[in-house]
Amino acid sequence: MSEQVLPVLPQFAAKAYVDQAKYRQMYQASIDDPVAFWAEHGKRVDWIKPYTQVKDVDFTGDVHIRWFHDGVLNVAANCIDRHLARRGDQTAIIWEGDDPAESKHITYREMHAQVCRLANALKTQGVKKGDRVTIYLPMIPEAAYAMLACARIGAIHSVVFGGFSPDSLVNRIEDCGSSIVITADEGLRGGRKVPLKANADAALKKCPGVKTVIVVKRTGGAINWVAGRDLWYHEVCAQAAADCPPEPMNAEDPLFILYTSGSTGKPKGVLHTSGGYLVFTAMTHQYVFDYHDGDVYWCTADVGWVTGHSYIVYGPLANGATTLMFEGIPNWPDSSRFWQVIDKHKVNTFYTAPTAIRALMREGEAPVKKASRASLRLLGSVGEPINPEAWLWYHRVVGDGRCPIVDTWWQTETGGILITPLPGATPLKPGSATLPFFGIKPAVVDANGAELQAPGTGNLVLTDSWPGQMRTVYGDHQRFIDTYFSTYKGCYFTGDGCRRDEDGYYWITGRVDDVINVSGHRMGTAEVESALVAHPKVAESAVVGYPHDLKGQGIYAYVTLKAGIEPSEELRKELVAHVRKEIGPIAAPDLIQWAPGLPKTRSGKIMRRILRKIAENEHGNLGDTSTLADPAVVDDLVSNRMNRS
Ligand code: WT7
Repeated sequence: MSEQVLPVLPQFAAKAYVDQAKYRQMYQASIDDPVAFWAEHGKRVDWIKPYTQVKDVDFTGDVHIRWFHDGVLNVAANCIDRHLARRGDQTAIIWEGDDPAESKHITYREMHAQVCRLANALKTQGVKKGDRVTIYLPMIPEAAYAMLACARIGAIHSVVFGGFSPDSLVNRIEDCGSSIVITADEGLRGGRKVPLKANADAALKKCPGVKTVIVVKRTGGAINWVAGRDLWYHEVCAQAAADCPPEPMNAEDPLFILYTSGSTGKPKGVLHTSGGYLVFTAMTHQYVFDYHDGDVYWCTADVGWVTGHSYIVYGPLANGATTLMFEGIPNWPDSSRFWQVIDKHKVNTFYTAPTAIRALMREGEAPVKKASRASLRLLGSVGEPINPEAWLWYHRVVGDGRCPIVDTWWQTETGGILITPLPGATPLKPGSATLPFFGIKPAVVDANGAELQAPGTGNLVLTDSWPGQMRTVYGDHQRFIDTYFSTYKGCYFTGDGCRRDEDGYYWITGRVDDVINVSGHRMGTAEVESALVAHPKVAESAVVGYPHDLKGQGIYAYVTLKAGIEPSEELRKELVAHVRKEIGPIAAPDLIQWAPGLPKTRSGKIMRRILRKIAENEHGNLGDTSTLADPAVVDDLVSNRMNRS
């Protein structure tokens, strides 16, 4: 690992909100007296009724987490209405289409009218406070309008990433019991059409509870239409009034559910609430990206992931920022696209994922140098550990050596960024997410749960709450307790391994549970396994991650076929296609190894540790194999291993 240190640029520190001394002072204050600290910073959002209570948290027993819990606010009013007087004509969203010839600017005033109309249309369809609304849209402004329209009337949105399959959509609709879906005819990515309405139609055959589907016309392509259920977005909005008073919401009323994969079972509905989430995303957006009035800020995530929720929509809009929303992909029409968009819209801050950086790095410097990138001031990274080589390329080539990089560590569950540099305050070490944000108390614990005092490696936990933390697993509070608060008593367990160095810098090493991070997206091994065993020819399967040059981690599946079924290249393709169809393209196995048997203990437990080692091509170092029921199984797996790099 690189131990190079890049000092804070003095010209950056001079203009930043926070320099090194101020970081230390504010961080210390936030830890010494969290209630006083958050009582003050909670004021950054507008409250209909101000809070008198700041924090009510217990990480033990039944676990409860409440922030600002007697305050009343509306999240959409904070993201739109309160900006109208001063910046009604300022651009809120710059939308850059998949086609480089297509883009538009939406002002705060225009966004207000759009969101109000949709909010009224939802009310007309019977949507009430607390109802769940499923959003299955591509990267178009209507996705942000839909989220904000829900927030305006107190409905809880559940955004499902457009890359998920009909079956994944079914699970998410059923789990939260939503009776309305907002989708589009088709999405457009890299010149290809994504059949969103057709996917939704397929899903809804299994969701009798869905009575209404609102359809955005994006491409105008031919779609199936169910009379009495399907409505055009533009028609329902045209019929609705352009003014809709925001619903007063308690700080702890739910804002959204977002499904994420875990190590067991089906994806969990991560529940975020209103007040604390907004305070935390707005504050982190301002400080981590050192956002100043007039800056153009671009986060390349999809709104189907938490990064899109917190750092395309809620954080930036709460701050009255100009946020860029990109429909396309990094390498279409060619691999200069990101940099062309930066020049076209004079982007100052650019926030993307290591997997994109590695893919673009492979194309060499020429596509980057085709654009000036003169407007760039700050770069960000999120989603997975960034290898120092990619970090240094990003810094030297994309940022011309003059832009700090904020490597931001966080999770769907954390709502916002927890460990990160502040660009005017933190000397950078390539590959390290560096130091905790204000109010964040990380600790590194060993296998026995003892907290490391000295530098060292272990598992990352958080010993206290912050306002953006998830509150529960929707409909299953026990699963919330079991997943996050039972491994280490009194602490939130992140599922990540980490090293803390002599300077107190955190180096996240990746998941220590059965979760794989594929291109910055989380995939549970159990989900891929159950998709595989659902195939009629598969008897058993075990799935693990392995290092992948571009994706960070790839998906390695061991598959045991049913008796009498012969392995073949064709069957391999069939299984990959099957998983794509069941879950979505992001879950497709990269490598499938035919396994006559899986390594098990005498009590029948699969020894995943061994499977991981073989997948990582570390088969010389399998560790203790004395508990194996049948050691010959391992010899076969090693000699037929698929990853020989
Ligand atoms: C997992 C969370 C948070 C937004 C995107 C992913 C990994 C995330 C970093 C980083 C090292 C990172 C962790 C974490 N991760 N950011 N900067 N450095 N690892 O959200 O799908 O909830 O995944 O992504 O392993 O636990 P997510």
